[in-house]
Amino acid sequence: MVENNVSKYRKVLGKTGEKISPLGFGTHNIRDFINAEKALLKTIEYGINVFEISETYANGLVIEFFGRFLTKIKRDEVFIVFRVSPLILANPNTAEIKFKNILQKMNISHVDVIMLGWYEDAIPLDFQLRSLERIVDSGYARYIGVSGLKLKQLSNALNIMKKHEIAMIQNKYNVLDKRIEKDLIPFAIKNNITIQACSALEKGHALKHPVVIHIASKYGKTPAQVALSYIFSKPNVVALIKSENIDHVIEDIMSLNLVLSEEDLNALKSI
Ligand SMILES: NC(=O)c1ccc[n+]([C@@H]2O[C@H](COP(=O)([O-])OP(=O)(O)OC[C@H]3O[C@@H](n4cnc5c(N)ncnc54)[C@H](OP(=O)(O)O)[C@@H]3O)[C@@H](O)[C@H]2O)c1
Repeated sequence: MVENNVSKYRKVLGKTGEKISPLGFGTHNIRDFINAEKALLKTIEYGINVFEISETYANGLVIEFFGRFLTKIKRDEVFIVFRVSPLILANPNTAEIKFKNILQKMNISHVDVIMLGWYEDAIPLDFQLRSLERIVDSGYARYIGVSGLKLKQLSNALNIMKKHEIAMIQNKYNVLDKRIEKDLIPFAIKNNITIQACSALEKGHALKHPVVIHIASKYGKTPAQVALSYIFSKPNVVALIKSENIDHVIEDIMSLNLVLSEEDLNALKSI
């Protein structure tokens, strides 16, 4: 275990009792899979356990990549959030088998969260949620998540669920884009659903904002660390970023040690 291991900061996922790292790493838009593997292996050394994958990323190459990554670590070192296409979930009678085929490509028995990848108007939501429940019933996933749902859609989804709870919602959230602070975050907190803030660095743009840069200089920290610390300050919220650069990964993980003052959190809130 490296010095500065951040396992102590884990947050509880929804009502599950499961502990997950407040910082997770996504696999969308990877440029170089060799560097990305080195970076992800480094995150494990530091006690990160959340990784997000999808069969839709890089035309399926991410599944091969993650399967290779898993051969280098122990399965229980990772908490896998799988964003599955609504097309796979369209028919509850075939979703399980389709998802089982994906798991076989990675040589694993299950993922941790099976997540509705995005809101797809053309497919009835209850079919998609039923498919997610069946995947959990088959043991191919432990918990259910949804992504990109607005408040009304999330509320509707909670009413549709029959057997299982929604443990996580993934939505865009960062210091430059706080649209979900108004309604979705309070709703998720009330219903004890974990919010996974994706694009938590606004694809790197958050690092260039003068307020973020100013606050970072006050603490002797970096803009990335300030931008992430703002997200960690919210109850029920965890962050999801992408990095394939080892230096960035360590810098980002160290943001978990930063606690911003109320005054600085307010300054970031008003950006
Ligand atoms: N549900 C959805 O609709 C949805 C939408 C968007 C994204 N996502 C998920 O969220 C994940 C992250 O989102 P994202 O890729 O949009 O953006 P992001 O994490 O906000 O930003 C990624 C960019 O920031 C750079 N970066 C990371 N740490 C840095 C640091 N310390 N200093 C400087 N630059 C740094 C990365 O470059 P390096 O690689 O060079 O470090 C990369 O260019 C994705 O992988 C995806 O899985 C989901």
